Parts: sequence; C-alpha cells; structure tokens
Amino acid sequence: MKSGVGAPTRARIPDKTLRTDRWWVPPLLTNLGLLTFVVYATIRSFMGKWYWVEEFGYLTPFYSPCLSDSCLPGSSHFGTPLPELPGWIPLGFLALPFLLGFRLTCYYYRKAYYRSVWQSPTACAVAEPHDRYTGETRFPLIIQNAHRYFFYVAFLISIINTYDAILALTHGLGLGGIILVVNVVLLWAYTLSCHSCRHIAGGRLKHFSKHPVRYRLWTLVSKLNVRHMQLAWTTLATLIITDLYVMLVASGAISDLRIFS
Ligand code: FES
Repeated sequence: MKSGVGAPTRARIPDKTLRTDRWWVPPLLTNLGLLTFVVYATIRSFMGKWYWVEEFGYLTPFYSPCLSDSCLPGSSHFGTPLPELPGWIPLGFLALPFLLGFRLTCYYYRKAYYRSVWQSPTACAVAEPHDRYTGETRFPLIIQNAHRYFFYVAFLISIINTYDAILALTHGLGLGGIILVVNVVLLWAYTLSCHSCRHIAGGRLKHFSKHPVRYRLWTLVSKLNVRHMQLAWTTLATLIITDLYVMLVASGAISDLRIFS
C-alpha cells in the first residue's frame, strides 16, 4: 500500500492502533442507532397501511404528503394528482428521497457515519481501512455538496408536516395530536439548526451591522446550531415514536388517549 497509513512518509506501525481504551464503542453505538432507524423506516414505508387515523386526523410523517389514488380517503391533504401506485412504491415516495438526502448529507450525520459506517477514519489514531483519501470530490461523496438543495425541500416538507399537525388539532386534542405537534416542533428545530440554514441567514456578509435582520436571524440559528447533533438524534427518535403511535392507533392495537373531542 503506497498511500494512506501505508504512505512512505508515515511511521511504520504494524498495529491497527495503539489505543488501549474502548474507542470502538462510539462508532458501534452510532451504527446501531442509524441501523435501527433505517430498518424501521424502510419497513414502515413499504407497509402501505396503518398510516392514517381518519377519526382524529393523524397522518404519520412517513406518508406525508400522500398524493396518489392509492392513499386512504382523507389522508391526501393536497389532493391526489398521481394515479394508483404499485405496492413496491412507498406512498410517501415524493418526500422520502429528499428527507433521506437531507439526513445523509447533513454535516452532523456525515461525521457520525464517516466514523462508523464509512470508517474514514473510525477514530483518532486508528488506521482507516481505505488506502486513499479523496474527500468529497468523487462520486458518491460529491453528492454531499448538494446539501443546501435538500435543505430547501426539507423546509417545504416541514411546512407540510406542520399543516398535518394543525389539521389533527382541528379534530380535538388527544395524545396523538400532542405527539404530532412535539415531533413537528423538533423537526423545525433540527431543520432550522442546519449549517446551510445558518449560511443562508448570515453567510457571505461583509458587515453584519449593515444587515441587522440577517444578523439577528443568524444569531438565532447559531443558538440552535450548537444543538444540531442532539436534534439529529432526537428527531430520529420522535419520528419513530410518532409513526409508531399512529400505527398502533390506526391498527386498533390501542385507543388514542383523548383529552377533549
Ligand atoms: Fe445537518 Fe444541514 S447540517 S441538516
């Protein structure tokens, strides 16, 4: 090997690492967390049922917006411009690729999966398996540079999820409505704390004093931005909890806890 840790200029150390601590624990936990979400979201997206509770207006975010004739009556808040879909196409197929792209290209998730899944590097002072480093200049990692465009679509989808949550509240108040609202508030916090959003708010300015509104926005986004990692994990959890609750109510496994009708 002529490059990476095998480059002629690097010290000749045969061991994979000289670290004696449990450096593999954080990448392992990250892998398990991401895997749990990916498996759950994939199964639910292809399930094609238990995503809508007509009585209380609960629509899971995994199926929103639902825009085809295959959607259950009442679940298409924006009409059905698309015909019936074959079973192998998830009903939320228009939003899912963008949401996935938004998360995959997120600066925090990059850090997480570069260290765990991609192992580039796995941890400080641990030799990485790759023999060459090309950064984000080649396919597929060059797609990371499209993050800002995924942000625009995610922003739009957050508006749609907000509409879904408000619509649920027009059916009275139940635990499901509270879960939908908490989920959408946290989704907004995650979306607005995005590094691209911070740059859109205050980037490329030479003088903050000449742009007080953008400076104020940048300050607010920056405060959220320091919590981006926590929000990234919290929203993965709230998405699962929200979908799980809607699924359990829609399937009849549990009844919605009603506060008032
Ligand atoms: Fe994480 Fe943009 S940096 S969503």
